[in-house]
Amino acid sequence: MSDLFDVAEKVVMITGGSRGLGRAMSRVFAARGAKVVVASRKLEACEKVADEIRAAGGDALPLACHVGDWSSLEGVVNAVVAHYGRIDVLINNAGMSPVAPSLLETSEALFDKIISINLKGPLRLTALAATQMAQTGGGSIINLSSLASQRPSPLTTTYSAAKAGLNALTAASAQEYAGVGVRVNCIVCGTFNTDAAAAMLENPDILPHIIGPIALQRVGDPEEVVGAALYFASDASSYTTGSCLTVDGGVRP
Ligand SMILES: NC(=O)c1ccc[n+]([C@@H]2O[C@H](COP(=O)([O-])OP(=O)(O)OC[C@H]3O[C@@H](n4cnc5c(N)ncnc54)[C@H](OP(=O)(O)O)[C@@H]3O)[C@@H](O)[C@H]2O)c1
Repeated sequence: MSDLFDVAEKVVMITGGSRGLGRAMSRVFAARGAKVVVASRKLEACEKVADEIRAAGGDALPLACHVGDWSSLEGVVNAVVAHYGRIDVLINNAGMSPVAPSLLETSEALFDKIISINLKGPLRLTALAATQMAQTGGGSIINLSSLASQRPSPLTTTYSAAKAGLNALTAASAQEYAGVGVRVNCIVCGTFNTDAAAAMLENPDILPHIIGPIALQRVGDPEEVVGAALYFASDASSYTTGSCLTVDGGVRP
């Protein structure tokens, strides 16, 4: 039986591929034979990951991309298609979750920034990538969501709202693009040990509150999100679209 989780030769674009969960996915997908587009704001950081992939015998394209910059995203997707001829998998991973002091102190600029990276960019990239995928027989789009989308707290109100929007985008775009062979799913992440979570994880007052409700009694390593991404990217999930898979070490309800 062929490998159900095969991603060899697939063109996989990973936003925020230069660090954290995105870097882990970039490296493992490339090791499994995918052609990986490492896309984030800082080209140098993307080049570093692409160099690591190439040094290990893989194929990668580093690309500068600000997912909140709506008008630039068509050019980004076109650059992927110009280089590799197609796009098979889009992983909307780039995100940011700053702690806002209170609702009243949340500025319009901060609100716009959080929404643009976590929701607006994924929406536009979904539309552009799905349109390309439709021309080559279909594909898979994977959105990186957060437990905060289902369990919002006042510390992350805007981020929680953006990720809840991303869950809704997943469900709606799965319906919209099913007919052209594009599946859309999301991974609902608990806490992983990345730059984004570093401030919380290094704070001895906060750490017990994070670990306490987790059944496995630890946060995730970035590599531990990759299995879910491989599942959604490959034929292993051929009958799955519009779904959210939680990867959180078993957080108590
Ligand atoms: N880590 C966790 O505990 C956790 C929990 C729940 C959900 N998540 C979600 O998982 C995803 C990955 O998180 P992470 O922890 O790996 O984050 P991270 O370590 O902070 O890395 C973020 C990545 O996104 C890129 N990025 C940031 N803003 C961008 C923009 N506007 N356009 C394009 N790229 C941008 C960064 O590169 P540049 O700086 O070069 O742009 C970097 O590669 C996010 O969507 C996050 O919300 C993470």
